[in-house]
Amino acid sequence: MRGSEGFYHYRQYSAVELAATRPLEDVWRLLIDGALPSTPAERAAFNDEVRPLRALPPILVSVLPAIASASEPMNGLRTALSLAAAERGCRPLYDLDHAARRADALLMAAVTPTILTALYRLRHDQQPVPPRDDLDYAANYLWMLTGKEPEPRHADAIKHYLISTIDHGFNASTFTARVIASTGADMGACVVGAIGALSGPLHGGAPSRALDLLDEIGSLDRARPVVTAKVVNGERIMGFGHAVYTTEDPRSAMLKEVAQSLGGPLVELATQVEQTVVAVLADLKPGRHLNANVEFYAGVVMSLCGVPPEMFTPTFASSRAIGWTANVIEQARDLKIIRPSARYVGPPPPQPVPPLL
Ligand SMILES: CC(C)(COP(=O)(O)OP(=O)(O)OC[C@H]1O[C@@H](n2cnc3c(N)ncnc32)[C@H](O)[C@@H]1OP(=O)(O)O)[C@@H](O)C(=O)NCCC(=O)NCCS
Repeated sequence: MRGSEGFYHYRQYSAVELAATRPLEDVWRLLIDGALPSTPAERAAFNDEVRPLRALPPILVSVLPAIASASEPMNGLRTALSLAAAERGCRPLYDLDHAARRADALLMAAVTPTILTALYRLRHDQQPVPPRDDLDYAANYLWMLTGKEPEPRHADAIKHYLISTIDHGFNASTFTARVIASTGADMGACVVGAIGALSGPLHGGAPSRALDLLDEIGSLDRARPVVTAKVVNGERIMGFGHAVYTTEDPRSAMLKEVAQSLGGPLVELATQVEQTVVAVLADLKPGRHLNANVEFYAGVVMSLCGVPPEMFTPTFASSRAIGWTANVIEQARDLKIIRPSARYVGPPPPQPVPPLL
């Protein structure tokens, strides 16, 4: 990532260009195997490898309703993937060769959208919809979520979102996955830990909150007073600011275009509110360079494509699972444990231990 330029890339290619020009599976192959397919036969071979892996793992068929009734899809995913990894017999990365690590990586990433959509449907008293091998990743995702074959423009918009969120440097969840991988633990442990990190509002939990903000604002004339009051109150405006980008987040710029191609009143409100929020933040937080991040338009795009807010963060988790697993494979190539040292700031040790009362 090049934060001051608003640019990020997957290996040697612009991630935004990949999102606009390639199917998601091509990018998945690029991250896992190091290269885009160079022939239709190579593309077909990768598709033939990953599509059958989407099926719900047998152990989950009977327990998924209980998991769904107990937890939101993101938390349910943690539990379900842990079981799926156990059923598969995922062994420590430390004991596996590259081929076995790659196989575990593909399975974990492939079942993630199936588990998430099944959990969502069960929670809403609907039966899970099995994956369809004739649909690509994005179209199949919407199919499993809604039970309806999506309009091509919706599948394409979601594909843009999914590709743009596959990977993004050492974000908190990817770093978590790498820390776990560095211990030589198994692929399931790495992905489950990463899900926990992604679930926090400051990381993956922002898009539904950004959409809530648009709901709360309602009309453009309310944008400035609502946002000003929040910032003065010490609150963060969800969907704005980024730890690395000091200029426009390229993912936000791309998703804004996608949103505008879909059109409608929500998109108009969002684009106007974006300008107001940036202006308010520049006034009240000068020098912090706070612009819209990926989450601001993510919620708008997903909602226009029929993804309910409850599934925004899970949809992010679906694509990010590909990035996590690719990072885990890379980390496992050189199993050196990540172990930062801590600086103790309390009373100087050793002090006498007080007598037992
Ligand atoms: C993404 C985020 C965690 C990055 O944080 P960061 O780079 O570590 O920035 P900091 O927390 O150091 O904040 C720097 C300053 O900008 C302010 N700031 C950062 N993001 C802000 C936001 N969204 N709204 C209001 N103020 C914000 C902070 O209050 C802080 O102000 P201060 O210097 O007066 O204390 C942060 O911008 C944020 O919380 N955004 C909202 C949540 C969000 O959209 N997350 C999705 C990220 S893709």
